[in-house]
Amino acid sequence: MVGLLKPRPSVRGGNSLSVLALGSINMDLVVKVPRLPSVGETLIGHEFFSAFGGKGANQAVAVAKLGVPVFFVGQVGDDDFGQTLTLALKASGVNISGLRTHRELHSGVASIVVSETGENTIACAAGANGAVDEVEVEFVRSHLPETQVLLLELGIPFPVVLAVAQAAHQAGVTVILDPAPAPDNLPDSFYPLIDILTPNEVEASHLVGFPVEDRPSAEQAAQILQDKGVQNVVITLGEQGALWHSSQGTVWYNSYPVTAIDTVAAGDAFNGALAAGIASQKPLEEALHWGMVAGALSVTKNGAQPSLPDRKTFFSALESWPLATP
Ligand code: RIB
Repeated sequence: MVGLLKPRPSVRGGNSLSVLALGSINMDLVVKVPRLPSVGETLIGHEFFSAFGGKGANQAVAVAKLGVPVFFVGQVGDDDFGQTLTLALKASGVNISGLRTHRELHSGVASIVVSETGENTIACAAGANGAVDEVEVEFVRSHLPETQVLLLELGIPFPVVLAVAQAAHQAGVTVILDPAPAPDNLPDSFYPLIDILTPNEVEASHLVGFPVEDRPSAEQAAQILQDKGVQNVVITLGEQGALWHSSQGTVWYNSYPVTAIDTVAAGDAFNGALAAGIASQKPLEEALHWGMVAGALSVTKNGAQPSLPDRKTFFSALESWPLATP
């Protein structure tokens, strides 16, 4: 399939449009355990580390690491975590002029448990992420003329996400929504604002109200989401690959043969690289290839932002791993 994204001429000429990621930024506190604990169970882990995280910030870093200009818009708290997160984001090459420090709330924190097979559970304390408001909406609005792609996720208040999606849609900017943390539903008026919706199987299940666990259920879910007005639905199913559904039809792509040690931020790697591909003027199918490769590489390393591939690793894997259909 070719893909149906809006043509977006650069206001500055050439390929100078950038990506804007609005969302959450967290300090991730990670414990690695032999298996995920059951409810009420205490498990002794074998490794602890902290890592820079938060879905919005991870996506921005994923874009920056591929050499594409990107802004991150969000809030940290006035604490040690906030200072470290800010410095790290800047050092990764992300434009942080849209990052504010909240004077009263703590920085976002994610408590993460990762099993030996790379599966995870995550609980977040939103802190300053929950204070993202009209100021951030205005920042995004004022930067839309130079923006090719707006990356959104749901770790910040939903009215803010809705307001910027409306503004970006009107301005002809490509809107990508990672519907995570998984919502139980989204207002019907929101779907037509989304150019590319990228749930994993858990998030897709929440959105459609039935388990999405294999190819038939994913195809059914994608059709329901497209009927609600989304232009392109991309459902990622881990080892089972990914589906791209649009008005042109449905295509499945195979996953890549990697050994997963930590799947945290795999979706962020996918979304960031997808946005970087679109901002680099690649056709949508090629940009999806970018996303699939970045997502696969990220699960081979520990941590959220530390696992996001750099340009050299990414482009060499992109050459070795063609986009393959079953
Ligand atoms: O997508 C992974 C991210 O989810 C982690 O970095 C954590 O902070 C949570 O927001």
